[in-house]
Amino acid sequence: MSEGGRHPAAGTPGAFPEIERTLISRERIAQRVHELAARLCDDLRAQKGGVESAAGQVVMVPIMSGAMIFASDLVREMPLKLGLGLVAVSSYPGKSLASKGAVIQSELPADLAGKHVVIVDDILDSGQTIELVRKIIGEQKPASIRACVLLRKDVPRTATTPDEQLAEYVGFDIPDEFVVGYGLDYNGYYRNYPEIATLRKDAL
Ligand code: IMP
Ligand code: MG
Repeated sequence: MSEGGRHPAAGTPGAFPEIERTLISRERIAQRVHELAARLCDDLRAQKGGVESAAGQVVMVPIMSGAMIFASDLVREMPLKLGLGLVAVSSYPGKSLASKGAVIQSELPADLAGKHVVIVDDILDSGQTIELVRKIIGEQKPASIRACVLLRKDVPRTATTPDEQLAEYVGFDIPDEFVVGYGLDYNGYYRNYPEIATLRKDAL
């Protein structure tokens, strides 16, 4: 990448011919990630009893694989002692463009009892993934649970939990379009595209 410039992949027609247009540039993403991290840190530090008094009281739980790039940028903007525990959930197997229902694919992080848990995901769509992960993490009786998503899609949710209780921290509200990049995939690809972008209809 050239200094201060764009990722070589972005805007290079030959590299990703299926990309249609950019919805959110990498500069806007970076700015918003910084703001979300600051808000999270403020809110976590304001928790009763504080979160830095005892080791490992904050645990970030990114939902794999979509949240991996967002979460890795987010946690590096959080100057706070925290643990990381991954959970894998699948809901869009293969080429599907609609959620097939969230299924947990990995062990959950253990020992969340009494911790302040922050679930991190790429996008809130039907809401089933976050609803499910909140429920199963809640069974371990953490001190608090919050969820942070980069994107929230403007669609009717199938989850019954109201939006404000599904994700307390939201990067961007987006229209009902299928997006890729910055961790989001279509059929396993485009996670490394550095911006949030739409795909050409003939690529879907
Ligand atoms: P939900 O369970 O329907 O809320 O879906 C959440 C998951 O579906 C996200 O973690 C994404 O992995 C995936 N997803 C939803 N919408 C999109 C999209 O537009 N592009 C890529 N993946 C998506
Ligand atoms: Mg996902």
